Amino acid sequence: MDIFDNSDYLKEEIDFLKEDGKTIGFVPTMGALHDGHLSLVRKSKAECDYTVASIFVNPTQFDNAEDLSKYPRFMESDIRQLTKENADLLFAPSESEIYPDAIARQAIPPVKLGALEKVMEGARRPGHFRGVVQVVHRLFDIVKPDVAYFGEKDYQQLAVIRTMVQQLELPIRIIGCPTRREQDGLAMSSRNMRLNKKERKDAAVLYRALQFVRNHWQKYSVGQLTDEAIRMIEANGTVKVEYLQLADGATLQQIESMDDAKHIRCFVAARINNVRLIDNELVLFKG
Ligand code: PAF
Repeated sequence: MDIFDNSDYLKEEIDFLKEDGKTIGFVPTMGALHDGHLSLVRKSKAECDYTVASIFVNPTQFDNAEDLSKYPRFMESDIRQLTKENADLLFAPSESEIYPDAIARQAIPPVKLGALEKVMEGARRPGHFRGVVQVVHRLFDIVKPDVAYFGEKDYQQLAVIRTMVQQLELPIRIIGCPTRREQDGLAMSSRNMRLNKKERKDAAVLYRALQFVRNHWQKYSVGQLTDEAIRMIEANGTVKVEYLQLADGATLQQIESMDDAKHIRCFVAARINNVRLIDNELVLFKG
């Protein structure tokens, strides 16, 4: 696997591959890789001629300095895992490569996120999605992928990126890939590494609560479902729910009733001491 930290050299390499008719698949990450990331690499390998992964912990998408400083960094083992998956190239830039000056750090592409930015993660983490749009746009501009792969665990992020690509008319196909889960159902996340043994075990209640909603939506009202799911999660006192809500799978706006809904997902964000986890699950889809 080739490793680049310089965007100009990378752009030259990509131009060369494109002249040769190769399709480029791209998996942007912040490192601390787990099987969720690697499944995106495998999908890109299966669908594209050349797979680029990136590792960059983007400071502009963190609304909390402690969260940024504690974000796990494991470059050596990440490189080993990407090499094992036969990724073709890793782009691992420094902060000054992505944001060479104050102007670049402030420049945000003109994307109107509207209501998408005002709910769930957008409402709780001010500026987070602006930072995601900023860095993904910058990475897209360097890597110029034909296809880019993102996990459905960050479902709202996926919707934000699709909105950006649509509004800016970028010639990139965005593929959302299913959440990878541990045996007890906990969604794979780099943040799971920050949980101690007991917290890790307790965290699995998030998935059990999502399953409860998925399996009982025909029997209870939206209010009853969410109240019971929150009660389940908070029952043993370790996990604290920030939000748990049913939302339209396309607009991500909260729904109050199942009537007329075509695509509903249940979204949850919760804290276990200082670690914040999110997850979501399909509840209903009428094709
Ligand atoms: O999902 C992530 O890891 C990040 O938000 C992303 C898309 C790599 C942008 O920094």
